[in-house]
Amino acid sequence: MKGNSESMPTTTQRLRLPWRLLIPAIILLSLLSYSYIPSELHTTRASVVSRCRALQLPAGPPHDFHSRTQSDRHVPGTRPYLIQNAKLWTGLDNGTQIIQGDVLIDRGLIKGVGSLSALRETYGSELVVIDAKGAWVTPGIVDIHSHLGDSPSPELEGAVDDNSPKGPIQPWLRSLDGLNTHDDAYPLSIAGGVTTALVLPGSLNAIGGQAFPIKLRKTKERSSTSMLLEPPYQINSSAPDPSLPPRWRHMKHACGENPRWYGNTRMDTIYAFREAYNTANQIKQKQDTFCNNALSGQWEGLGEFPESLQWEALVDVLRGRVKVNIHCYEAVDFDGIVRLSNEFKFPIAAFHHAHESYLVPNLIKKAYGSTPAIALFATNARYKREAYRGSEFAPRILAEHGLTALMKSDHPVMNSRHLLYEAQQAYYYGLPGNLALASITSNSAQVMGMGHRVGYIRQGWDADIVIWDSHPLALGATPVQVFIDGIPQLSNPHIVEKPETFQRKPPVPNFDAEVKEAVKYDGLPPLVPTRASTQRVIFVNVRDVFTSTLTGIEKSFSAADDAVLGTVITENGQITCVGLCSTHTAADSTVIDLEGGSISPGLVSFGSPLGLEHIAAEASTIDGPVYDPLSKQGVPDIVGGDGAIVRAVDGLIYETRDALLAYRAGVTSAIVAPTAYGTFGGLGVAFSLAASHKLERGAVLQEVTGVHMKVSQSLNGPSVSTQIALLRKLLLHPVEGQSKEWFLKVREGEIPLVVEAHSADIIATLILLKREIESASGRSIQLTITGASEAHILARELGEAGVGIILNPARSFPYTWEERRILPGPPLTESTPVSTLMAHNVTVGLGVMEIWDARNLRFDAAWASLAAGGHMSKEEVLALGSTNINKLLIGGNRVQDDLIATRGGDLLDMSSKVVAVISAERGLADLL
Ligand SMILES: *[C@@H]1O[C@H](CO)[C@@H](O)[C@H](O)[C@H]1NC(C)=O
Ligand SMILES: *[C@@H]1O[C@H](CO)[C@@H](O)[C@H](O)[C@H]1NC(C)=O
Ligand SMILES: *[C@@H]1O[C@H](CO)[C@@H](O)[C@H](O)[C@H]1NC(C)=O
Repeated sequence: MKGNSESMPTTTQRLRLPWRLLIPAIILLSLLSYSYIPSELHTTRASVVSRCRALQLPAGPPHDFHSRTQSDRHVPGTRPYLIQNAKLWTGLDNGTQIIQGDVLIDRGLIKGVGSLSALRETYGSELVVIDAKGAWVTPGIVDIHSHLGDSPSPELEGAVDDNSPKGPIQPWLRSLDGLNTHDDAYPLSIAGGVTTALVLPGSLNAIGGQAFPIKLRKTKERSSTSMLLEPPYQINSSAPDPSLPPRWRHMKHACGENPRWYGNTRMDTIYAFREAYNTANQIKQKQDTFCNNALSGQWEGLGEFPESLQWEALVDVLRGRVKVNIHCYEAVDFDGIVRLSNEFKFPIAAFHHAHESYLVPNLIKKAYGSTPAIALFATNARYKREAYRGSEFAPRILAEHGLTALMKSDHPVMNSRHLLYEAQQAYYYGLPGNLALASITSNSAQVMGMGHRVGYIRQGWDADIVIWDSHPLALGATPVQVFIDGIPQLSNPHIVEKPETFQRKPPVPNFDAEVKEAVKYDGLPPLVPTRASTQRVIFVNVRDVFTSTLTGIEKSFSAADDAVLGTVITENGQITCVGLCSTHTAADSTVIDLEGGSISPGLVSFGSPLGLEHIAAEASTIDGPVYDPLSKQGVPDIVGGDGAIVRAVDGLIYETRDALLAYRAGVTSAIVAPTAYGTFGGLGVAFSLAASHKLERGAVLQEVTGVHMKVSQSLNGPSVSTQIALLRKLLLHPVEGQSKEWFLKVREGEIPLVVEAHSADIIATLILLKREIESASGRSIQLTITGASEAHILARELGEAGVGIILNPARSFPYTWEERRILPGPPLTESTPVSTLMAHNVTVGLGVMEIWDARNLRFDAAWASLAAGGHMSKEEVLALGSTNINKLLIGGNRVQDDLIATRGGDLLDMSSKVVAVISAERGLADLL
């Protein structure tokens, strides 16, 4: 600003005016003064005045926003669509409104909702009419926590741009500047119904920077900026344009463990926040003083408008114009941030992860301004100390306290293609269905400050719409079509026909007792199962019974109809009668009513370190990694040098919370290999998830299962060809030492060789290696490939070579370059890895990557079968998570003899709950 030493007319007269008249008075006086101040000065002063006034404008859309007739994101040439005969979940009325009718979209907007057939004529032949045939239609999914673009997939070192290493306080950084347009995940997440995502910087900084809501579709500009949902005013310039209303801005903060990355303790982090906010506050106060003077015409000695490119965004936080999203887990951290928000008077949009929020709802409510929402994972917890008390019941408990629970992906931490599944799980564990759907649509849009245009099916809102193949809360619900800005995103969608029952909201079990315990025990409710007090346990009202045999799973009982459900009698963990059993022995028995439920083999978890760790990020709670013979350090001679081999059984850890939670969800045993960062793994072990220690009966099911190895480009180690050379050497000319015996057993075909590999190139090499070893030895070896994201490319060859596959993750995602050629399944492709491999007679099992996820194996199996077209028998589906795993990892000689009883449905059904385990191996029944 120039010429501020010029004097202004006297202000005494103005000071007597009532406050309300002050601003019009200023305008009047500045107009009057026009004639005798230089025009350049006048312009400068006018711009200062308008800038100062703009500081007081609240953030949000302009008040006439809904008079728009076309979206600012409309792409000319997009045809109008009329979706007829739909069940529209609109997001209105707290997520309870459902309209049977039509929705019209045009010019990037929803133009009408209701009975709209008459419009067909108005629009004529330009209109594309889609008959939804009664399908469920919802707003596009809005993900409030994503790193799409900033942490693109497959992960390559050159494009991980979401954390700055330059210090804990970085409010000046913008996630937009790292928003890569080539993330493989954009089309995948769209295929899961995600249309909008808030791209947050990472959480290693206390203030990581500014976040941006984007839409996921490709734009014709192909630029990062063109993906922005509603660009804030600063996007093109360092000074705001006061003629534009300030749209909501977004910022990421983090507290607790992640900012410790800089060596900051919690105390340092909160002080870093206070120092930053204090700096911003001083600037804000200077601005306010400046503007009070300018707006009251006191130009003398006013100086420049106080501003700072570095701090302007944080100043805007203090002006209440930024949606602050805070990664924060524990009570101690909420407490610090709540005090910070009250000290500096800024509102918080949401706490993210927030695994202890359900234990301290009243503390959350003490934050400055309106109560923050809580953005959660459904069952992803305990991966680090501050997540240890996480509960699957948190969304329900928070909602009961009147807090807004949102589900989020933290993509690529969780693949946001499956954000709907997070809402389904929250619903399963007790969040009301209306709120579960709102948690990823209307409520997440509101909390993001974007509820005026996304998150609802409402006239005038953005045309972001998903047509589903089933009720969105039914497991495996998949989009039939996804519209973003009125543009259909799926060019040739593959649609799976679902049974009629999938068109209804599934009933869910009652978890009231578990909810009480979670709170009572401060997030650590006892999980050790209660043993049945009688030797005999009788199950009544059983719909069907599946048991395992040496070859697979068979149905050993099936009720003819609902009126004659069956009975199962067990004694000391053995079934003694199935079907129509006399229950006159009920006197000294425990009787359990399954209410039409089932009995089926216990599931088997493999792929994560379950049994070797409590908390992934805490070294003192885990077994730890083995030595890598290919590393410089090698294996110490005293351990056995190059001939050493480690047995996972020696490191087993019992009574981990994830093992007990998995047990309560029907996973009764697991197989685990020693943790290896290099190629050389060790000997796997099969063990029971319910035992308290290794010496208990049935705690170790098989001491040595197979030899585990890994071949990958991503080990930062020797080349893949070197890793293969190692395998060849060990199999053809084993080194003297403890490992020799086991490699000879592999060569003789007595135990499986289990190799983790994703790339089709590596898998092809392994098939050739198998052939080579077999022709040298004349024996057939059992080879199982795990991971195997690209295995479908070699389905025929794997089938011919008799190589089995454990898909891990069960739903492929291009996390790394070696797994980028995934087969995504419906709606993007008709086939899935499971259907393709099974069509070539490959034995397939489903793996689990992280220990918290072991509990979800039942849903993984059910979902895999739905995605594969639903043609598999229940026996085949159950085998994916049980007998096939044993077959592939232990060889053909183990029967899965734990049985689980589910109430209200079978294990594959989201309406059922596991209520008992019957274990022949351990000679008992556990009641859950
Ligand atoms: C919204 O729905 C939930 C669950 O159904 C209910 O508990 C809550 O009271 C509702 N809120 C309003 C404002 O109606
Ligand atoms: C930013 O600049 C571009 C190019 O001039 C323009 O099209 C766009 O509307 C501007 N955006 C904002 C929010 O000012
Ligand atoms: C798979 O096995 C079945 C039964 O043995 C056989 O009929 C079929 O031809 C096999 N399919 C392939 C692709 O090998």
